[in-house]
Amino acid sequence: MDFKLTPEQEMIRDMVREFTENYIKPVAPLYDEEKRFPYENLKRMADLGLMGMNIPVEYGGSEVGVIAYSLAITEIAKGCASHAVTTSVTNMVAEVIYEFGEEEIKRKHVKKLCSGEYPAGSFALTEPHTGSDAANIRTSAVRKGDYYILNGSKTLITSGDASGVTVTWAVTDRNAKKGKGISAFVVEKGTPGFIIGKAEEKMGHRASSTNELIFDNCAIPANCLLGKEGEGFKIAMVELDGGRIGIGSLAVGVGFAAIDFATEYVKEREAFGKPLSSFEAIQWMIADSYTELEAAQLLVLRAAYLKENKQPFTKEASMAKLFATETARNVAIRAVQMLGGYGYTKDYPVERYLRDVIGTTLYEGTSEVQRIVISREILKG
Ligand code: CAA
Repeated sequence: MDFKLTPEQEMIRDMVREFTENYIKPVAPLYDEEKRFPYENLKRMADLGLMGMNIPVEYGGSEVGVIAYSLAITEIAKGCASHAVTTSVTNMVAEVIYEFGEEEIKRKHVKKLCSGEYPAGSFALTEPHTGSDAANIRTSAVRKGDYYILNGSKTLITSGDASGVTVTWAVTDRNAKKGKGISAFVVEKGTPGFIIGKAEEKMGHRASSTNELIFDNCAIPANCLLGKEGEGFKIAMVELDGGRIGIGSLAVGVGFAAIDFATEYVKEREAFGKPLSSFEAIQWMIADSYTELEAAQLLVLRAAYLKENKQPFTKEASMAKLFATETARNVAIRAVQMLGGYGYTKDYPVERYLRDVIGTTLYEGTSEVQRIVISREILKG
């Protein structure tokens, strides 16, 4: 068993770490405060090859693999979870179009996602009445000649207003068994009838936009169908498996950022005449946090390794997401505790890390959904 990264993976991790220090960390508090979408940084990150990390070079990607992608998302998240989630979802959208799109559609959109010509991509599955029960969506798509007519609405869509292209899901066969009548489509920004709805006011991830999307007799060319009619639900599940590696990686990054900050703080801050770091209660928080985060990162990297090597990874991705997000959340709570009352103020970044990391246990499948996936995979043997 070889835990060593390749020279290329180390180089990418170090490059992203440096980028995060220079460009992301300095703006993260302000962007969080002002809910500012990081257009400039996203373009810079696309120029570094971070938007199509599993896409072949021919289609504009950097094709550096899933492990490098995971390391990159972790480094970005050490600076700002919003930058990281936008990057993660954009990569996922580029991948789903590349994997399942017709050649013309791939040529049209994948390069623009990878190059940053599109600031982001969005993955519009969730609907107001159904989040976890994704097979229960109601948005419809009716074939009329060379077009599909979409009607319905989506909610909580990451980068909904900033995306050049959105992948969405709609029911094409109402009479099919649950999950079998759903199809996936590519919708370009600006298509008549494709309306950007209200922006959510969120607790964290405030520099990432989250919107409602509405389809009002929105006609899209028939070649915007991904895969075949009725295959949409499986396409969503397959892509979410990969997406969950991204979110696990993100959570690990936020967790490390929180405990790194708190560890430096307790070395300086004194109580009862000595640094907080000399108290066993604090030392154990440090020991537990780093141990748990390293375990989380190993799970994430194992799932990334399996995906990169084209082996089944559904269960491993869900385990990685479940463990990494819940661990990072617990670590962020500890980091706030280590700073005491100051941890609860906006003078220090740990409150932002905590607000941000809570989102990771919710999107791309809640912790409860990960447990469903994991237990089903185990029980089916
Ligand atoms: N890979 C391939 N196929 C899969 C699959 C996978 N990972 N998971 C399920 N399938 C297949 C099943 O084999 C089954 O096919 P057959 O009937 O042919 O056997 C079919 O899909 C239906 O599967 P289930 O019976 O498991 O479906 P279910 O209705 O019980 O739902 C679920 C399972 C796991 C709960 C699923 O609905 C789910 O993952 N829900 C969460 C949705 C989610 O993650 N949403 C996030 C939104 S996107 C987002 O957050 C992005 C963002 O912007 C940040």
